[in-house]
Order: sequence, then C-alpha cells, then structure tokens
Amino acid sequence: MPQKIGVFDSGVGGLAVIAAIKKELPNVEIIFKSDKAHFPYGTRSIDNIYGFVKPIFDGLASEGCQVIVVACNTVTTNLIERLRAELKIPLIGIEPMVKPAAAATKTGAIAVFATPRTLASTRYSWLKEQYAKGVKVIEPDCSDWAYLIENRQIDRSKIEAIVNGVCAQGADQLVLGCTHYHWIEELIREIAVGRAEILQPEVPVVDTLKTALAQLS
Ligand code: DGL
Repeated sequence: MPQKIGVFDSGVGGLAVIAAIKKELPNVEIIFKSDKAHFPYGTRSIDNIYGFVKPIFDGLASEGCQVIVVACNTVTTNLIERLRAELKIPLIGIEPMVKPAAAATKTGAIAVFATPRTLASTRYSWLKEQYAKGVKVIEPDCSDWAYLIENRQIDRSKIEAIVNGVCAQGADQLVLGCTHYHWIEELIREIAVGRAEILQPEVPVVDTLKTALAQLS
C-alpha cells in the first residue's frame, strides 16, 4: 500500500508544494485540502484560523494520512505547536527561511515576503531574533499578493516595484515566506536577476518529508 500524506494550504500555494513532492515521491498518495471559503488567511486572526484548520486537520488524520505537510507559512508560524500537541500524527511545517537567508547575505540585508499574519507571529519574531541579529530584515507590504495570485490577477508592475524596492535597499536574499508566491518565483527571479537570490523551502520540506516517511515504514 502506498504511504498516504495530507497537504494543507488555504489555497493554491499548496499545489506548488504538491508539485515539488510529486517530483521526488511519485508513489506517495496525497490528499490535498484547501479552504477557499475562508481564503485569504493572511489577514485573519489566529483564533479564526485555528477554528478553520482544526477540523480540516482532524479530517486528514481520520482519512488515514500518516503525515500532514502544513504548506502554509501563516498556519505554521502561528499554530503548528498547538496543532502538533493536539494531533497524533507528525506535522511538517513551512516557515520563512530567515536562517539560511541571514547566513547567506553578503550585503547584510535580506527581504522577507510574507502575509501580515506571518510577519506578526511570535515564531517569526523568534526566527529573526535567533538567526538574523545584526542583519537588516526588510518586510515589504505583500498583503494582497496571495489574493492576486489565487485569483490569477498578478500585477507585474506592482511586484516589480516591490522587488526593485527591496533590492535598492540592499537585500541580496529574497525569502518567499508564503507558498502562494512560489507561483511567481520566476517573475521575482527575473526582476531581481544579478542583484538577489531567491529562497523558498520546497527542497528542504521534501527532504524532511522523506525522512519522516522512512521512519514510518
Ligand atoms: N499560502 C499561505 C502562506 O503560505 C497564505 C495565503 C493566505 O493568505 O491565505 O502563508
């Protein structure tokens, strides 16, 4: 029997993560849940988000998922500890790659693109405090990006202005801290070419998932 995993995101960010998982683990059965009814999560309260995701995660566990990939930075940074304590299966989270970005910067400046709720989370503050002391962390306003990507209304000039803005402030590492932004990774790369590297977590997440599944088999 194939191993079965759950993947959750509020919307299409999860599909980008699933594409990366399928490339490396083609035989794993994947149940994907999103929450279009309450999308976007990034501007909602933690209590609201918890109320939405708890039944979905319980459902994935009762459908027999052996692991859940939380393909949503907003949920991971605000709720993963609580959900881990309440669920009996392993949860693999996705959170902004502050640590590798801070380690790689040569200019001493990084930019984190993420939802307002992720940027306001205790976990994200902890990541900066722990790994990015002395590094300038630029957090531009990307509050409508997930909505625009979900609804295929990407405004190239808006993205260009933000990416050019953080590059002009010296950022040489750009962290994609929302899985929706994986769909515009190439556009961001094109705008930032020669000035900044892009960091997004698909490779490390798939590696963590492989390890978790190997331990279960
Ligand atoms: N894809 C989600 C994330 O990684 C957020 C999208 C939303 O605002 O719902 O944070």
